[in-house]
Amino acid sequence: MGIKVVSTGSYLPEKILTNHDLEKMVETSDEWITTRTGIKERRISKEETTAELAYKASLNISGLKPEELGLIIVATATPDAFFPSTACKLQAFLKNKNSIAFDISAACTGFIYALYVADSIMRSKNISRALIVGAERFSKILDWNDRTTCILFGDGAGAVLLEKSQDEGILGFDLGADGNYGNLLYVNSVGSNESPPYYLKMKGNEVFKVAVRTMVESAKRVLEKTDVSPKDISLLIPHQANVRIINAVAERLGIEKGKVFINLNKYGNTSAASIPIALDEAIKSGAAKKGDLVLLVAFGGGFTWGSCIIKL
Ligand code: UT7
Repeated sequence: MGIKVVSTGSYLPEKILTNHDLEKMVETSDEWITTRTGIKERRISKEETTAELAYKASLNISGLKPEELGLIIVATATPDAFFPSTACKLQAFLKNKNSIAFDISAACTGFIYALYVADSIMRSKNISRALIVGAERFSKILDWNDRTTCILFGDGAGAVLLEKSQDEGILGFDLGADGNYGNLLYVNSVGSNESPPYYLKMKGNEVFKVAVRTMVESAKRVLEKTDVSPKDISLLIPHQANVRIINAVAERLGIEKGKVFINLNKYGNTSAASIPIALDEAIKSGAAKKGDLVLLVAFGGGFTWGSCIIKL
């Protein structure tokens, strides 16, 4: 018995915010953003809540039968509410009454954490279908006067349908966290002693260095655990934060550029949504095909990190 990703979906809000638009808002330039990050534009949700983004991404999954789901997990750092969870809202939108539903908070690594939790629950319990979503509305937690952060992020959602299967689809994980780095990348909230508004704060330069090292180490561990050689990886789908981070990670893993999926030029960093959006685009564009070994690797606030190898 195994667990397989059987179908995927994604949704990006319509409104596009380009680097040129940002030039009119803060002291920056398209040239700076493009060369330092690889980002050209990002999507902004004007009306749609995180739960609605999650719902639209889920509706985009072909063959999804909501009533058959036994588990719904949403990875998000920007939920609609403290409670009910985004997953409970999604469950109601889907008119499902048979699932357990909860959110996971692990910042940009959230989707891989959610996959890990779903994989573990499905293997140990009588649950054969699960919907796992990464959904974010980071535009709501950005200080639009802070040029060091507001140019980096965007809104969106990606979703996967997991099913129990004869053959193994999720080959293995490597996950970790180190809370000592919490002060390099955070958004405070009501439990803190900070007063609102609560904005994302980041020491980008320091995050950059740890991100590269940690993603490489985590990816190497999952390759070793699953006994897969980097040359057998058909596609690397890294968290889409910065093209320089992605190139450094791919190079250190010995994965050639043609096997690295990049879409951050269009969407920026969508945090927990970045990997499922990229996976959906990779499958739908034919960049990832049935039978391919795909390496997912993410890094985010916490710090948290995670890697996973899936066979499509
Ligand atoms: O999702 C996971 C977590 N997040 C990340 O992985 C992000 C990791 N970090 C990064 O991607 C990069 O560190 C950034 C893109 C955020 C910044 O790039 P950098 O090459 O590390 O630049 P820097 O922070 O060292 O800043 C270089 C200069 C500074 O000016 P001075 O001090 O050299 O005069 C900044 O003030 O660039 C300036 N700067 C900008 N200039 C134009 C910072 N932001 C901007 C901007 N436009 N938007």
